Amino acid sequence: MKLFVDTGDIEEVRQAADWGVLDGVTTNPTLIAKSGKQFKETVLKICELVPNGAISAEVVATDYDTMLKEALEVASWHPNIVVKVPLIEPGVSLIKTLSDRGIRTNCTLVFSVSQALLAAKAGATFISNFVGRVDDISDDGMVAVRDTVDMIHTYDFKSEVLVASVRHPLHVVQAIQAGAHIATMPLKIMSMLFKHPLTDKGLKQFLDDWNKAGLHILEP
Ligand code: E4P
Repeated sequence: MKLFVDTGDIEEVRQAADWGVLDGVTTNPTLIAKSGKQFKETVLKICELVPNGAISAEVVATDYDTMLKEALEVASWHPNIVVKVPLIEPGVSLIKTLSDRGIRTNCTLVFSVSQALLAAKAGATFISNFVGRVDDISDDGMVAVRDTVDMIHTYDFKSEVLVASVRHPLHVVQAIQAGAHIATMPLKIMSMLFKHPLTDKGLKQFLDDWNKAGLHILEP
């Protein structure tokens, strides 16, 4: 199970990278716009901070020819860049073209297993299945994740299922239970994965007992 951070904020990427468990970064046009910096500058800085990670950078055109130009431009910036492409008709055609040329893609805005089928058949490296946005409209976003994982295994597709639009740690737990390959989440949610009240309580007790006994590891 890979962990990605979902952000366009360099300091957040640096923090997640410092924990030593980061496998990649996803960005989207909204997150890049929020960063207040130019797209290329932000993406290249992220590539530097996560040298072995997959860094998703999204095209913004919606017609095939311009999407292809943008995709080739973005892919030329760094070998770790994965071109993020929305699941629209020209997007699926573009994923097929890029896949045939050996360029990795992340098919985004996927909400159903039927959409995921198109992404997988086109050769998407990652299929970004959004869960939070489905939960927001009173449906269960994890259903499509489970169905997509089953589909990948049943038909032996090579795509990896990336659980996106993660809103809380339970989404991460459910992504693990579904057998998803990757979960991407805001830094705030990643930091919540550390938390357990018994960890805090247990650590306090260990340290109180140790200090009361006047013990040390390093020579004072
Ligand atoms: C995924 O790559 C998207 O950037 C992201 O997970 C969207 O999350 P949101 O629904 O919280 O905006």
